[in-house]
Amino acid sequence: MSSAACFGPALMARLDELATFSDDPERLTRHYLSPAHCRAMQQVAGWMEAAGMSARIDAVGNVIGRYEGRRPGAPAVLVGSHIDTVTDAGKFDGSLGVLAGIAAVEALHRAGERLPVAVEVIAFGDEEGVRFPSALIGSRALAGSLDPSLLDARDRAGVSVRQALRTAGCDADAFGSCARRAEDTLGYLEVHIEQGPVLEAEGLPVGVVTAINGATRWRVEVQGEAGHAGTVPMVLRRDALAAAAEMVLAVERGVRAVPDLVATVGQIEARPGSINVVPGKVSFGLDVRAPLDATRRAALAALESAFGEIAARRRVAVAIDPFHDTAAVTCDAALIETLLGALARAGVRPRRLPSGAGHDAIALAALCPVAMLFVRCKGGISHNPAEAITTEDAGLAVQVLLDALRHIGAARTVKL
Ligand code: GLV
Ligand code: MN
Ligand code: MN
Repeated sequence: MSSAACFGPALMARLDELATFSDDPERLTRHYLSPAHCRAMQQVAGWMEAAGMSARIDAVGNVIGRYEGRRPGAPAVLVGSHIDTVTDAGKFDGSLGVLAGIAAVEALHRAGERLPVAVEVIAFGDEEGVRFPSALIGSRALAGSLDPSLLDARDRAGVSVRQALRTAGCDADAFGSCARRAEDTLGYLEVHIEQGPVLEAEGLPVGVVTAINGATRWRVEVQGEAGHAGTVPMVLRRDALAAAAEMVLAVERGVRAVPDLVATVGQIEARPGSINVVPGKVSFGLDVRAPLDATRRAALAALESAFGEIAARRRVAVAIDPFHDTAAVTCDAALIETLLGALARAGVRPRRLPSGAGHDAIALAALCPVAMLFVRCKGGISHNPAEAITTEDAGLAVQVLLDALRHIGAARTVKL
């Protein structure tokens, strides 16, 4: 049996098991610091220990497993992804990268093999950024770039990140202790489902990421005037929802013409929310992404001015809170070559591709060189319970990751 074939079934079984950790019995929903996320942290820590690692949960809820190299305390290669999910998620987004990392270390442990470098597997929280108006809290804390004001961000129930961390048994005030030193960190590798259709269309099981889109998220508040649905004449209304609807369509129209630019309004809430009341206040979330930061910035400026024009014409007020902004990230040339070499040794045609989705690697890039391995997913579908990968591809991802870790270790020996 090839090594890919021996890794796949056990990895898929664990992915199935982790998917049972949900806050909703009907679907997979595991938001940052929810009860299910906290239970999943413990489960992942247990799997890390069974794979020969020491495991701990840090001040912001990252689960960190460390497999020492030949010399205790040696610099580490980090391997990770996230275990928080969107609402009604698939079971591979994030979890695949964490469990593939544990499987690779488990293989080293079973063989009694120590590398010249340490390997740390990390299960980040808050990659998805769906509970709080934040994103990447876990990976930013590790990279030392967490803005502490994010700890006071509140979810829709009014619970702050700080309070949620306390409930999870973590100490938000100690977030500074999560930060790593660059000299202890050789690089970061993340295995992730592609979340797009390119690999499947080309008949390739895996590919190597060259760069990750930059992203901006806005919370937009439109303030009009609530009124009686039967008595306020149409011309006298200041309908916040009608204004927001025009803004949503302006977003779609504005980005369609620009290659590689994408923008989404995935959340909208109208208040007071009664069928017989003209909506007085609307809040919506906007997500804008592009491979070039200049493209994204130009689109944001155009949208801000379009929103202002719509608001003025409709006599409503608009306020924009740009709560998340990440620059596009270029993956490290040497780590890309290492992954491509592992692909070649596995007999897979080397394919490089960019990432439209955001990943923890974006935050880690502030700390160390980063690279990602994408795994083909069925129909390119993600953020959807229909997310699917094959057992063979999952096994191959572990084989490639393990090969890359061994090569990074060997290269490090030569340098030393
Ligand atoms: C995370 O999955 C994102 O790209 O929004
Ligand atoms: Mn993800
Ligand atoms: Mn995701």
